[in-house]
Amino acid sequence: MSEPVSPPTPRRKPKPEVTTIGGRELKPSTLMMGFGYDPVLSEGALKPPIFLTSTFVFESAEAGKRHFEGITGKRSGGATGLVYSRFNGPNQEILEDRLGVWDGAEDALVFSSGMTAICILMMAFCEAGDVIVHSGPLYAASEGFVAKVLGKFGVSYLDFPAGATRDELDAVLAQAKARAAESGGKVAMIYLESPGNPTNALVDIEAVKAARDAALDAAETPIAIDNTFLGPLWQSPLRHGADIVVYSLTKYAGGHSDLVAGSVSGARRWIEPVRALRNTMGGICDPNTAWMLLRSLETLEIRMQRATENAIKVCDFLQAHPKVEGLGFLGLLDDARQKDIYDRHCTGPGSTFSVFIRGGEAEAFRFLDALKVAKLAVSLGGTETLASHPAAMTHLSVPDARKAQLGITDNLVRISIGIEDADDLIADFDQALAAI
Ligand SMILES: Cc1ncc(COP(=O)(O)O)c(C=O)c1O
Repeated sequence: MSEPVSPPTPRRKPKPEVTTIGGRELKPSTLMMGFGYDPVLSEGALKPPIFLTSTFVFESAEAGKRHFEGITGKRSGGATGLVYSRFNGPNQEILEDRLGVWDGAEDALVFSSGMTAICILMMAFCEAGDVIVHSGPLYAASEGFVAKVLGKFGVSYLDFPAGATRDELDAVLAQAKARAAESGGKVAMIYLESPGNPTNALVDIEAVKAARDAALDAAETPIAIDNTFLGPLWQSPLRHGADIVVYSLTKYAGGHSDLVAGSVSGARRWIEPVRALRNTMGGICDPNTAWMLLRSLETLEIRMQRATENAIKVCDFLQAHPKVEGLGFLGLLDDARQKDIYDRHCTGPGSTFSVFIRGGEAEAFRFLDALKVAKLAVSLGGTETLASHPAAMTHLSVPDARKAQLGITDNLVRISIGIEDADDLIADFDQALAAI
């Protein structure tokens, strides 16, 4: 007779999350090492395994029914577990929990790219006849999505310059409200990008909130903001009146220029419609990318701090250089309005900035082609320094008149500083400027 097989270990409950010790709230940099993951649920593995599965086994038919009632909204409270990988998976759920921690958001969703996040977010809130109000400039693809894609579905837009004052904001919201009434819709969203890509122009989020609250129903018109350039370390928009924060996680959050992903965070009431559309369309990031992002978030703070320290040193050098006409760096603002917004909203200048080379496209190209340490590539927020020419690259599709209005000139080079040695970077910029 064979030995009786010992019964399997019963499924253990995950441990409760520890987010405070002795009344002290733990910081995001501490929580990134374990929040949202209990090793007990994964054979004791210190790090979460990558869950490569397209579907999840129900404990019973009744449990399966309950899950689908939650997903489809037949029962309030949403899904209670994992069902199918187009909806969610363990790696993505941990990532969503940890992203929420950085911004103090109740909930978060991850996507296969920043643009997927932005497009699904906007589609979740807009109907034909609605108006979107947005700051300018936006990342060119975001601006294109609003103008060219949403336009096809009867959604129109109005935009305002990033630094707009309260009076200017009041005026654009009044115009948007009148337009929405005419077209039988609502002002569906106020969408901001601050700092704006590529000029670094800041939006006064506090003034936008005050103007929205005065003119519109705050329960109907959320303020969403693309916080890719400074977040989550140097700017926390939910604390300044925004309702929803959007990221291209491809940038600082991923931080190693080796993945593409995006996210949307905010209060559950704003996140639920976005989740419902993501459930339908897909667009969630894959488990491998989610795992890489969990690793990246462990070093986010030290990477962003080091890159910012480097950027401050590099900009000190560049601002004094005779071949540099000017800098668009948040650490060296001379415009009083922008400085005031910076002081109220930001805790650091970040490490992405624009440098205006004396001359035009030819001089800017000679500078770019001469760089030896910095790589000539679009994107930003990685461990390595990147340089690009927005007018001829990321923002090429923006009409010339709009480029001129936004200050995207032919002598503008965008730099994203990495975590190399600052003096090596200065030596590289010095020799590239000499080569113009
Ligand atoms: C400010 C900003 N938002 C959104 C995006 C789009 O993100 P992704 O490339 O991850 O789709 C970018 C990309 O450069 C960006 O710079």
